[in-house]
Amino acid sequence: MASPVVWIISLVLSYVSIALRVGFVSTSATGSTTLATASLQDMEANALLRTGWWSRYSNDTSKRCKWPGISCNKAGSVTRIDQQYITWKVLGKLEILNFSCFPNLVYLDLTAFGINGSIPSQIGELSSLEYLNLSHNFLTGELPQSLGKLTRLKEINLFYNSFEGSIPIDWGNMKSLMSLQMRSCNIRGPIPYTLGNVTLLKQLDLSHNLITGAIPPTLGGLINLEILRFTSNQINGLIPSSLSNLSRLSQLYLDSNLLEGPIPREIGNLRSLSEMILSQNKLNGSIPSSISNLSRLSSLYLDSNLLHGPIPREIENLKSLSELILSRNKLGGLIPSSLSTLSSLCWLYLNSNLLEGPIPQEMGNLKALRYLDLSNNKLIGPIPSRIGNCSILEEFSE
Ligand SMILES: *[C@@H]1O[C@H](CO)[C@@H](O)[C@H](O)[C@H]1NC(C)=O
Ligand SMILES: *[C@@H]1O[C@H](CO)[C@@H](O)[C@H](O)[C@H]1NC(C)=O
Ligand SMILES: *[C@@H]1O[C@H](CO)[C@@H](O)[C@H](O)[C@H]1NC(C)=O
Ligand SMILES: *[C@@H]1O[C@H](CO)[C@@H](O)[C@H](O)[C@H]1NC(C)=O
Ligand SMILES: *[C@@H]1O[C@H](CO)[C@@H](O)[C@H](O)[C@H]1NC(C)=O
Ligand SMILES: *[C@@H]1O[C@H](CO)[C@@H](O)[C@H](O)[C@H]1NC(C)=O
Ligand SMILES: *[C@@H]1O[C@H](CO)[C@@H](O)[C@H](O)[C@H]1NC(C)=O
Ligand SMILES: *[C@@H]1O[C@H](CO)[C@@H](O)[C@H](O)[C@H]1NC(C)=O
Ligand SMILES: *[C@@H]1O[C@H](CO)[C@@H](O)[C@H](O)[C@H]1NC(C)=O
Repeated sequence: MASPVVWIISLVLSYVSIALRVGFVSTSATGSTTLATASLQDMEANALLRTGWWSRYSNDTSKRCKWPGISCNKAGSVTRIDQQYITWKVLGKLEILNFSCFPNLVYLDLTAFGINGSIPSQIGELSSLEYLNLSHNFLTGELPQSLGKLTRLKEINLFYNSFEGSIPIDWGNMKSLMSLQMRSCNIRGPIPYTLGNVTLLKQLDLSHNLITGAIPPTLGGLINLEILRFTSNQINGLIPSSLSNLSRLSQLYLDSNLLEGPIPREIGNLRSLSEMILSQNKLNGSIPSSISNLSRLSSLYLDSNLLHGPIPREIENLKSLSELILSRNKLGGLIPSSLSTLSSLCWLYLNSNLLEGPIPQEMGNLKALRYLDLSNNKLIGPIPSRIGNCSILEEFSE
């Protein structure tokens, strides 16, 4: 049994620690929204309870900050909801979560949570939200215009859902956005020109949707962009030369669209580019010699277009090139012997073009070459015996 003296001391200590905690809350709370009032806490607690998402775990809302996947700030207001720590799926509508009740929510990750229905427009009331992940669910309906109000949002991931309609114009107001991931979302309509205002954007992935219209030239304003993926849509028109402003771009994926006209000469300004994938469009004109400035390029895919003219000799400057895929175009002339200086080249596909003349003997110097396809051209003369000296060649078609 503890003596009365010890009991009094521990009572005093716990009183002190409560006082300290209260003091800490009031000094750390900078704005009125972070100061959790009893009514805000009750509102959050009731909104969580109403989802039923935790009912198999607990209905005791006084412990909600310890429920799996929930985090609170020091004032006891909910800041994170993260499925990663929830071991079950919920199966039901997203709308059951009342977004009007969480002014301090910073992080909402409901990836593969089994939710369906639409994203309610009240999501625009999550004024503290920075991270939103609703990917791999069964969401339908229009994309909420109100997300554009969330000027603190840094990352949005909506991969693999089945929305209707197009990207709202208002999304151009998301000043803090760095990552917009919307692969396979069933999005239609044009890319809003206002996206060019989201200048902190580093990653933009709209691939595998039903997007139509042209690439807005305003996207040249995305000077921090590193990854641009528009693969597999119905985007038409020209590749805007303003994209040459994207000096940090390392991946440019515009393949499987309806793009036409030439590859702009200005593309040679994209000096950070390591992957340029323009396959399966209707691009014509010749391959601009300016690509020789892209010294970090490791993958260049221009196959299945309408490109003509020669393979530019300057391609020899692309010393990092490991994949060069130019198949199914109308490229003519000789295979430049300078190709043989590309010592990292592993995949070389030049098939189904109008290339003529002999296969350069020097190609035997391509020591890293594993896959070579020169078939379906107008090449003449013998296969150089030295190609057999590419010691690890796995596949060869002529
Ligand atoms: C929470 O309440 C629901 C509905 O009343 C009930 O089905 C569930 O068993 C309760 N959960 C716990 C952990 O008591
Ligand atoms: C959402 O999922 C639930 C549970 O599987 C189902 O009962 C409901 O019909 C679905 N609603 C929609 C709009 O798909
Ligand atoms: C959501 O919460 C707000 C604020 O508490 C309330 O006014 C509103 O009625 C709630 N909506 C629903 C659908 O429960
Ligand atoms: C969901 O997306 C957010 C924001 O992009 C990201 O931080 C998080 O890691 C993603 N979660 C999962 C499970 O992929
Ligand atoms: C957004 O971009 C459009 C066109 O690019 C421009 O007219 C508008 O002023 C910009 N808005 C803001 C708030 O920067
Ligand atoms: C490209 O950059 C230049 C200079 O940095 C700027 O004046 C121009 O407006 C930019 N173009 C686009 C489309 O943003
Ligand atoms: C290239 O395509 C554009 C747009 O489709 C067309 O106007 C132009 O005539 C074509 N040029 C050549 C040389 O085929
Ligand atoms: C390569 O870049 C330089 C500037 O560094 C520029 O003068 C030149 O025109 C570019 N070459 C091509 C082929 O675009
Ligand atoms: C192939 O390589 C061997 C040894 O590496 C060399 O002796 C031979 O001359 C080479 N053949 C040709 C055709 O270059």
